[in-house]
Amino acid sequence: MNNIEKEESAELKAEIVRLIDQQGPISFAQYMEQCLYHPQHGYYTSSRTRIGKQGDFFTSSSVHSIFGRLIARQIIQIWQLMGEGPFTLVEQGAGEGYLCLDILDALADESPDLYSKLEYRIIELSPDHRSRQAQRLSSHVATGRINWCEFSELEIFSGCFLSNELVDAFPVHIVEKQNNELLEVMVNCVDGSFVEELAPLTDSRLADYFELSQCPLVEGNRAEVNLASLDWIKEISGLMKQGAVLTIDYGYPAEELIAPWRRAGTLLCYHRHQSSDNPYQHVGCQDITAHINFTLLQKIAEAQGFETLYFGEQYRFLMGLGFLEELIRLQALEADPQRAQALRMTLKNLILPEGGMGESFKVLIQGKGLGRPELLCARPIREIGLASMM
Ligand SMILES: C[S@@+](CC[C@H](N)C(=O)[O-])C[C@H]1O[C@@H](n2cnc3c(N)ncnc32)[C@H](O)[C@@H]1O
Repeated sequence: MNNIEKEESAELKAEIVRLIDQQGPISFAQYMEQCLYHPQHGYYTSSRTRIGKQGDFFTSSSVHSIFGRLIARQIIQIWQLMGEGPFTLVEQGAGEGYLCLDILDALADESPDLYSKLEYRIIELSPDHRSRQAQRLSSHVATGRINWCEFSELEIFSGCFLSNELVDAFPVHIVEKQNNELLEVMVNCVDGSFVEELAPLTDSRLADYFELSQCPLVEGNRAEVNLASLDWIKEISGLMKQGAVLTIDYGYPAEELIAPWRRAGTLLCYHRHQSSDNPYQHVGCQDITAHINFTLLQKIAEAQGFETLYFGEQYRFLMGLGFLEELIRLQALEADPQRAQALRMTLKNLILPEGGMGESFKVLIQGKGLGRPELLCARPIREIGLASMM
């Protein structure tokens, strides 16, 4: 076994074992919370390179600045729909700060008026991400555009709430149906190893979740339940006076997420660019994610006065915002054919369905006080003038 295969946080493992000794078996959500967010030893709270080639996974914003530039165009339209006044853009979970940088660079270029009226607020719980963000974003900090805050410090605002690959890391409960009964996956420790046990549900909202989704769990199947995401969208809905919530993440509508054929749920872990479905290895040194339920995010916000303005795959969203036109423009700037080819290969990752990020990632835009406008990202692919680009 090499060092990478063995890599885990002994301190975190000992802390979780201690918790189980004190409390008895803990819910999978508690286990995942410790693994990712333990104040000293959690995957997101300890110091580590997580994103990019030297890390555990890539995100779309780490692939190329085109991602942020196209999102900036959608934000400009939302600002225009709101009358072009002062605008707050909140980004939660900003990682290395690439998305913020690319959006602000694009706004400074394409809409200096919005740039000058913008307050960009970052909510980031990881101390090392925060400090790398501060360095990377120093030019925009200097213009007074950016500040950092806690979620609990947000006040009522008008503008946009943005996240990319945040919600999939919220701790999830795991529920399994056995003998027609919903049971919860609990984590115990036996002879120094973590083992799963089934027990009665620890929270009655877990059963409500399947009712609200209008998708009963099929006998023998298991599914993750992200209760934290439901509280999260409700809180954001309450804080937004006018504007849009733009959520990009892996996920499905409820009927696809809780489908009878999806027998083992969607839990996935990432460590050094290898994915696995084993959350009990690399404790504290791997990301743990579960696909999100976009139907419930929509239902909850709609009950709070939001309209679903857009829901679709990332490739459609980016195409609508001018991905192809931008690709062709960037290629034309590249004199060296090999570098132009490398650029094409890099950008393809953002839209490819198989092995790329184009289809597993979805984009949800929920609006409040905007009416039902036709968003730029909803431009149908058939309307993209391919012939004029050749
Ligand atoms: C998978 S990374 C995505 C980063 C970034 N959005 C990107 O596109 O590269 C998740 C980010 O969310 C942060 N994070 C996770 N849970 C969070 C929470 N509850 N509040 C704020 N930030 C959080 C992590 O520290 C990390 O910066």
